Amino acid sequence: MTKLGTLDLNKIYQGDCIELLKKLPENSVDLIFADPPYNLQLNGELYRPNQTKVDAVNDAWDKFESKEDYDTFTTLWLKECHRVLKNSGSIWVIGTYHNIFRVGTILQNIGFWILNDIIWIKTNPMPNFKGTRFNNAHETLIWATKSKSSNYTFHYHSMKVMNDDLQMRSDWLIPICQGEERIKVNGQKAHSTQKPAELLYRIIISTSNHDDIVLDPFSGSGTTAAVAKRLGRKYIAFEREPFYVKIANERLEKIIPLEKPLLEYKIEKRKPKVPFGCLIEKGYVKIGENLFSRDGKYFAQVQADASLLFNGIAGSIHKISAAILKKENHNGWSFWYIRRDNKLISIDQLRHDYENKFLKSKDSAYKEIQFEENSIHEPEESFLSYANNGIQSV
Ligand SMILES: C[S@@+](CC[C@H](N)C(=O)[O-])C[C@H]1O[C@@H](n2cnc3c(N)ncnc32)[C@H](O)[C@@H]1O
Repeated sequence: MTKLGTLDLNKIYQGDCIELLKKLPENSVDLIFADPPYNLQLNGELYRPNQTKVDAVNDAWDKFESKEDYDTFTTLWLKECHRVLKNSGSIWVIGTYHNIFRVGTILQNIGFWILNDIIWIKTNPMPNFKGTRFNNAHETLIWATKSKSSNYTFHYHSMKVMNDDLQMRSDWLIPICQGEERIKVNGQKAHSTQKPAELLYRIIISTSNHDDIVLDPFSGSGTTAAVAKRLGRKYIAFEREPFYVKIANERLEKIIPLEKPLLEYKIEKRKPKVPFGCLIEKGYVKIGENLFSRDGKYFAQVQADASLLFNGIAGSIHKISAAILKKENHNGWSFWYIRRDNKLISIDQLRHDYENKFLKSKDSAYKEIQFEENSIHEPEESFLSYANNGIQSV
């Protein structure tokens, strides 16, 4: 697919985003990132103590007649975004205290459903020279879906892995765009609010898939399009100022997309966990029989609710093995064995046999886990067949 309605994909269009959004078909976009004007309303110029001028956002694109004007503008572009967003998609809007609360209210009034607000903590914020307020060191991102019932994309496990196996939090520490990354023309910043690529990287990686369509209605220096291209997504972006379109296009020319195999979410395709109760239901373990420790020293009886009974205490396979080992927690799968053909075999082995028989799927990365065929222990009878055997016909 190279087109979205009458517009080409992988292109930055110069023009007003509200007019351009109207050209897109409804329910056609997977992910929207919007970095709209802030409506900063700066009064006069700001100088450092050494009398050099502060590079604040004072551009024409950020000027509105009034707050009402800003709200009308926000309502119009957000309504269009709501129309073009797929039900499986989501939208991110970034802003500061100047605008994000107004944007958040309008967004909810339109029908979007907020999933999170992310605080982008700037590790190197601009200093507050006047010393009359706290240093403004963050921006807020709202992450929302089209409606409460949207089935949106979120790569939870990938985000966790990215964060050293800890669930990723809603406060992101990322420096403001600087150094090599900052696009300059004649030694001056090409765009006053170029966002760091890391920010877009997290957003696009976490909430879209390879080949998805990413839309940015306020493209500026083209950060969204650049990261989307690198991550193998399709993009479409709008920007009013021809100069910014030019620098964004120059930026995009240098981007080489990553190879598709590097962009697959292998970590998300986790093998489903088999709880101990499933082994009972399928007859791999019988209610009433004993599980043993490896050396046979300890044994516990399997109850109908999948708990083990040991010395009058009932608990899960994990709780009882932990109690025997006098530990807070323990993985019962590595502790318990069952007697089969006069040998003790690990219940973990039974679990693998169960997975191999019932959970092997053709299209998941899980298929890469191979089990030796001869290790399979067939269940004798399922839990239900045991139950039925007990019923006497009259
Ligand atoms: C906050 S900046 C976006 C910066 C961008 N995220 C980046 O990383 O470079 C907002 C941009 O929206 C553009 N803009 C403002 N009003 C617009 C409109 N009605 N239609 C399209 N672009 C607009 C401005 O020219 C400005 O470049």
